[in-house]
Amino acid sequence: MVMTYLIINGPNLNALGQRNPSHYGRLTLAQLQERVQQRATELGVEVAFCQSNHEGALVDYLQQHGPAAQGIIINPGAFTHYSIALRDALADLATPIVEVHLSNIQAREEFRRRSVTGEAARGIISGLGWHGYILALEHLVRLSKGELE
Ligand code: DQA
Repeated sequence: MVMTYLIINGPNLNALGQRNPSHYGRLTLAQLQERVQQRATELGVEVAFCQSNHEGALVDYLQQHGPAAQGIIINPGAFTHYSIALRDALADLATPIVEVHLSNIQAREEFRRRSVTGEAARGIISGLGWHGYILALEHLVRLSKGELE
C-alpha cells in the first residue's frame, strides 16, 4: 500500500521567498515543496501538496482527502490563530496531524501565540523554518510504521 501524506499550506504561504525572510526564510514555496518531495522519495512515501488562501477551500480539501491520508502536515498561516472552521475540520479527522510554522510563533506578537488549530494536532513544530516540514514528515512516517510505540 502506498502511504500518502498531505502537505497543506494556508494563506500567504504562496508568497514565500518574498515575505519577510527573517521570519520565513528565503525559499519559495516551490523550493520548500521540492525538499519535502525529495525526503518523501527517500522514505518511499507519496506526498500531495495543497496551498490555498481560502479558508473554505482548505476545509473542502481536508474533508475530501484527509480521511484516506496516512498523515497531514499543515501550516495554516494566519488561520492558525482564529479559524474555528479549520480547527473543526482537523478535529473531525482520525488522521494524525502535525502543525508546522516556519517562524517561532511564541517569539512574535502576542496574537500569534495562541494556535486554535494546533489544539487538533498531535504536535506543533514552530521556528525551525523549512526543516520543520521534513521533521514532521519523518515523524508521521515512523508513526504509520508503528515505530514510535
Ligand atoms: C506562520 C505564522 C503565522 O502567524 C503567519 O500568519 C503566517 C505564517 C509561520 O509559518 O510561521 O502566515 O504560520
